Amino acid sequence: ATTLGASAAERGRYFGAAVAASKLSDTAYVTILNREFNSVTPENEMKIDATEPNQNQFNYTNADRIVSHARSRGMQVRGHTLAWHSQQPGWMQSMSGTALRSAMLNHVTQVATHFRGQVVAWDVVNEAFADGSSGARRDSNLQRTGNDWIEAAFRAARAADPGAKLCYNDYNTDDWTHAKTQAVYRLVQDFKQRGVPIDCVGLQSHFNSGSPYPSNYRTTLSSFAALGVDVQITELDIEGAPAATYRNVVADCLAVARCNGITTWGVRDSDSWRASQNPLLFDGGGNKKPAYDAVLAALNVG
Ligand code: G3I
Repeated sequence: ATTLGASAAERGRYFGAAVAASKLSDTAYVTILNREFNSVTPENEMKIDATEPNQNQFNYTNADRIVSHARSRGMQVRGHTLAWHSQQPGWMQSMSGTALRSAMLNHVTQVATHFRGQVVAWDVVNEAFADGSSGARRDSNLQRTGNDWIEAAFRAARAADPGAKLCYNDYNTDDWTHAKTQAVYRLVQDFKQRGVPIDCVGLQSHFNSGSPYPSNYRTTLSSFAALGVDVQITELDIEGAPAATYRNVVADCLAVARCNGITTWGVRDSDSWRASQNPLLFDGGGNKKPAYDAVLAALNVG
């Protein structure tokens, strides 16, 4: 096929992009989005500070705009994210203990209920593990409510939207030998063994010189998949957008049956959270880059 989305669909997968509601009035942006992608992830609009700016006052305006744009064109939606230490509204940042636990679970329940039936997969919990070699949980107000906060969030999400796939999502979990990767692996293994609802793992896959694409990436994908979860590449961008690295990422996903989708974290370089690294498949003028051609070709191999 001749587009990313249609080519991925022929391989039983989706190809998505992170989308900003503010760009849905940019014609050049929307032209590329509608032509190339069959999945969207709201880049910021479903985060806690966006959806619950004041406690128990929910605002879905911008998230609904993205969901409606996507679904009316047959695109899937990935929900991002229900529980996270970052992008918390001020009222939540200052909470702790059982009050915070209740507020977090209420947030998960309310947001997942609002979007019930519209979101294919939720990043229920984002970035809960520490960087470095400890393999420990990241310290945060949520973590300080008790080590079981992650499973509590997953159970609340399942109850609110039983049809959605529930994912754990993190970065620097691409290298199979990395302590953080192993810690997430043990979490998923434990959840599967104890029957805590989890369906997928998201590897953000923000690659740059400090955290490069690892040669064992395919091992990471297949190892998570072997636990009985889908694996999704959820926030892909690569410093400089080398065509060969993009090609390798796609080939690795295609080699693992349960790697069922890839999302790039933005559409054009100019839309990226790290625009100066030119990490995406389209340049600021909306032109296809060599990495685009490499991804398209890799999706159409075989
Ligand atoms: O919308 C406000 C605007 O009103 C205000 O004037 C301006 C001033 O700072 O800020 C704007 O909000 C910014 C928002 O992006 C929208 O542009 C926030 O400051 C800024 O912090 C926010 O950054 C986002 C970041 O997550 C927040 O944590 C990036 O766009 C977004 O790409 C990035 O995405 C994360 C994923 O959620 C999780 N994984 C890592 C990834 C990259 O950091």
